[in-house]
Amino acid sequence: MTESSLSGHTNGAAAMHTGSAVMDIHDITKSYQMGQVTLDVLKGITLQIQHGEFVSIMGPSGSGKSTLMNILGALDQPTSGEYFLDGQDVSRLNERDLARVRNKKIGFVFQSFNLLKRTSALRQVELPLIYNGAGERRKRATAALTSVGLEARLDHLPSELSGGQQQRVAIARALVNEPALILADEPTGNLDSRSGMEVMQIFQELNRDQGITTVFVTHDPWIARHTNRVITIRDGNIVADRQVAEPLVAGESERPSEAEELEGIFREAYYGGSEEEYT
Ligand SMILES: Nc1ncnc2c1ncn2[C@@H]1O[C@H](COP(=O)(O)OP(=O)(O)O)[C@@H](O)[C@H]1O
Ligand SMILES: [Mg+2]
Repeated sequence: MTESSLSGHTNGAAAMHTGSAVMDIHDITKSYQMGQVTLDVLKGITLQIQHGEFVSIMGPSGSGKSTLMNILGALDQPTSGEYFLDGQDVSRLNERDLARVRNKKIGFVFQSFNLLKRTSALRQVELPLIYNGAGERRKRATAALTSVGLEARLDHLPSELSGGQQQRVAIARALVNEPALILADEPTGNLDSRSGMEVMQIFQELNRDQGITTVFVTHDPWIARHTNRVITIRDGNIVADRQVAEPLVAGESERPSEAEELEGIFREAYYGGSEEEYT
């Protein structure tokens, strides 16, 4: 299977682990040795995410969400288990090959935007292209910024942008290499609810219009309600995995004033645990 075959192929199927799963993990564990004590953080996670899905991962603080995201993002290797990314077994790649896969196939968005302070929006988005030795950098970076609605902010520094706009620059940077998937770890965590919705709107558009597979971690059931599938993990295990019956469209519905009531419904549906477990 070649690195460039990112979607919907029928030939070469023998080399593919499963049909169109972009992420296919089998019984993944992750343990850390802390002196004499072994800390089992992921305890056997099996999960498939298909091309074009828009998935949120929820769970209490410390449940292993970021650890899972780091493995899904090929930033870290599992202790045991298998991971097929776009049909390719990445659980046994060395660091150099892992970095190449990561670079080519995955766009990352973080809670703290991770932008360079004295660098324009355009330049920030050109950087992954420079790193990859890609051509037409200015054109491609401009297109990525346009796709997140920032075509009028190309020359702005982060300090000249709102939080929501900064996160959109980070999304454009994640997109510019045309990754097979976007992974975002609490991308709305540092934003007020209006900016959070602005960012959700972008993720929804990218998913809907460009079919970009998106997985992100959120603590906010209201945000999760805007995705198509919610996976809940607790204490290193998946405890729920549900399709969202009618995902909300970002910006169309206000967070209701009876938010607590709504949250109660989701807590029951998605968590099934006690309130104090969740932060
Ligand atoms: N590098 C590490 N070494 C040791 N323990 C770690 C390491 N990374 C994470 N952990 C532990 O793994 C557990 C899950 O962490 P994490 O995946 O960050 O949780 P979450 O993102 O759900 O809040 C925590 O108990 C954390 O302390
Ligand atoms: Mg985390």
